[in-house]
Amino acid sequence: MKDMSYYEVTQYPKLVMLDLNLLQQEFPQDEDLYYLNHAAVAPWPARTARAVQCFAEEIISKGAKDYANWLTKEKHLRKQLQTLINAPSINDIALLKNTSEGISIVACGIDWQVGENIVSSNEEFPSNRIPWEAQQEKGVEFREVMIQVDDPEQAMIDACDENTRLLTISSVQYASGRRMDLERLGKYCSENQILFCVDAIQSLGALIMDAKAIHADFMMADGHKWMLGPEGIALFYTAETARKKLTLNQFGWHMVENYGDYDTKEWVPTSSARKFECGSNNLMGIHALSASLSLFEAIGMGNVEQQVLENSMYIIQCLKHHSKIQVLSPVGTGEYGGIVTFQVKGQDHGALHRKLLAKNVICAHRGGGIRFSPHFYTSRKVIDKSLEILFSNI
Ligand SMILES: Cc1ncc(COP(=O)(O)O)c(C=O)c1O
Repeated sequence: MKDMSYYEVTQYPKLVMLDLNLLQQEFPQDEDLYYLNHAAVAPWPARTARAVQCFAEEIISKGAKDYANWLTKEKHLRKQLQTLINAPSINDIALLKNTSEGISIVACGIDWQVGENIVSSNEEFPSNRIPWEAQQEKGVEFREVMIQVDDPEQAMIDACDENTRLLTISSVQYASGRRMDLERLGKYCSENQILFCVDAIQSLGALIMDAKAIHADFMMADGHKWMLGPEGIALFYTAETARKKLTLNQFGWHMVENYGDYDTKEWVPTSSARKFECGSNNLMGIHALSASLSLFEAIGMGNVEQQVLENSMYIIQCLKHHSKIQVLSPVGTGEYGGIVTFQVKGQDHGALHRKLLAKNVICAHRGGGIRFSPHFYTSRKVIDKSLEILFSNI
């Protein structure tokens, strides 16, 4: 545990709303650890670990005697996620195992016609590329638009035509950190009867997300990055009209209307997003993610977003002043989120990454450079120390 002086008010220059005691309790990370890797796998807050401990102790002593309480927690998590993304209804929220599963359900659920196309970008993580490429055998074209241009949204719009069935994009690109104008893309899609799919894993928990405002038909995000939860429990949002268009490819006891009636042989899929959950849910993960999200509720997503952007801009400014460093991430307002990726002249970035890891600067080697991804709670002291270590190793 760190001493209390660690979280001084000055560590958060612009943000006076953060409860520093709360942060100190929730993130008792090792004092010599500089964790700038929330775009990969994030540390949990202490409350999440406690929730998992309690769940484990309960199942040791009582088994599933109080299963009904677990189902109440599951319902609560759906409500938390509905609120987090401003979805119209709790019925629009399914709980899946990961982002890739959500994308695959959409990609494999559409009744593709030969000659249709899918528009995406050339910066997507494989999870938002491979499920679409797999549809090519059905005569569907997958268009990867070059988005390293002045107006990437326009480039994507220009790539659409009368045969475009769906546009899919990451809200923030995993390597470059490029943040897309989802409202603009979603508006275009809704006006042109194109389905709009958003891989939100690199922004949910970091930036305010509004499924209604961006006209999203589908949105998915696993819990282990910016939401500070475990791996293997993911949000899958489907707008009601879009949900009806998906053919089901997974079946089981959990997705039927008469859920819990094991005797009747007749069944129909339920109309809610639960129809995408074929069997038992990850109830341990559900307890954990619910606990993690309660922290965001306590702090407020407006505060979280403000501090995430503040931290990114601070890093961008510090890096820009170093003659050997080139920031690769877009830096204009609205063009970045929590990811800052950069290159260092004359460096082997794999080797530099290994050096940083050895000095406890936990970051990633992505997009041909080094990726820093601090969260809202990351103190100025942690960022400064990471930069000091970086500068002394180049
Ligand atoms: C943009 C993006 N989508 C999807 C994933 C993977 O998600 P999952 O493991 O939940 O399928 C990642 C992981 O880095 C990612 O950055």
